Amino acid sequence: MNIGLLGFGFVGQGFQQLVSEKYWLGLHVRQIGVKDPAKPRPALGIPFSTDPNVLLAEDSLDILVEAIPALDEAYQFVKAALQRGKHVVSANKRMLAHHLPELSALARGNGVQLRYEAAVGGAIPVLTALGGYFQTEVVTEIRAIVNGTSNYVLTKMADEGLAYADVVKAAQALGFAEADPTLDVGGYDPKFKIILLAAQAWGTWAAPDAVLNLGIQPLGVHELDLARAQGLRIKLVSSAKRTADGRVQLSVLPAFLRPDDVLFPIREEINAIHIQGQASGPHLFVGRGAGSLPTGTAVLADVRAVQLGQTLQLPAMATTPLDSSANVQLYLRTGQASLVEKLGLEVSAVRDGAYLGTTSIGKLLQHVTEVRASGAFLATVPQGFSLTANSPAVAARA
Ligand code: HSE
Repeated sequence: MNIGLLGFGFVGQGFQQLVSEKYWLGLHVRQIGVKDPAKPRPALGIPFSTDPNVLLAEDSLDILVEAIPALDEAYQFVKAALQRGKHVVSANKRMLAHHLPELSALARGNGVQLRYEAAVGGAIPVLTALGGYFQTEVVTEIRAIVNGTSNYVLTKMADEGLAYADVVKAAQALGFAEADPTLDVGGYDPKFKIILLAAQAWGTWAAPDAVLNLGIQPLGVHELDLARAQGLRIKLVSSAKRTADGRVQLSVLPAFLRPDDVLFPIREEINAIHIQGQASGPHLFVGRGAGSLPTGTAVLADVRAVQLGQTLQLPAMATTPLDSSANVQLYLRTGQASLVEKLGLEVSAVRDGAYLGTTSIGKLLQHVTEVRASGAFLATVPQGFSLTANSPAVAARA
């Protein structure tokens, strides 16, 4: 099977390496599309081209792999490929989260496959599980840590007392972080992934702008102290829940987690996706969410599935109205008392500019731009959470 590969960064290189190592699979990367003509390239015996149209126009290519970070370029490429009746494997969570309904309809209409296992949770075969095993099981809820960079930053800050900016730089050097790390630490990247998870689980799609995401940038020593004193950990948690009337609740928020939470032990750049099945109960998928070979492995698995003619059930996408009425129990640290009022926070405790209270996802979404601009730190909290660092551990009390 002949493959055209667009993008030769971490993911593209990992995939190409695996294809050449596993030569017995009968897969061949025949053409590689890149952006920068000046960059030195390894002598692989494969032609490099800076024009994606070369890949699109090459009839001998059976499948196109898209592994570039750009949003629009990737969209145009994947769309054109599907329109020309090519199978596509993409690793571009941002592009897919924005254009999934259109692209999945195009794939269906042209009788080709659009697969993107690598776009969610890196190496973890969670979309394959949702599209296969879970076709006959009802998923009621998904909670996940699907941004390796944020989890790495949170782990290093809490365990080693490292400064935020230094750890973000380290994550960039290790190749986990996006070119613009705001996508990671601001909770955008995990938002794209939870949108894709919800789409695969329920066939419901939500536009990224309609989904709440707040990040970990404003996290301070104060929160780390509060967490440590109470035996908790701070994580960036993506959630998706289907309500009884078929609507979907989606959000990405920092959270203080108790030790009995399944996501509590997930450290460094590791990802975890917890799926609640109606009859089958809880399932936890844990693995490498980023990195060249882990992500390349997921791309290869998709390409191989296409080669073998295995199809993945991609549900018909409907834009479902989101349910933003759910209330969350929150910790909010802000210097602006007016923000507390705007968010409609029903305050139960206040101490040193930090508030505990309840409000709805909808209220947070309505004022999300102000919350971000204000530098407020906001996180969900478990029962028994206290604003004093010397209070007894929540875990011990539970
Ligand atoms: N920047 C992403 C992360 C890479 O940190 O998880 C994998 O999608």
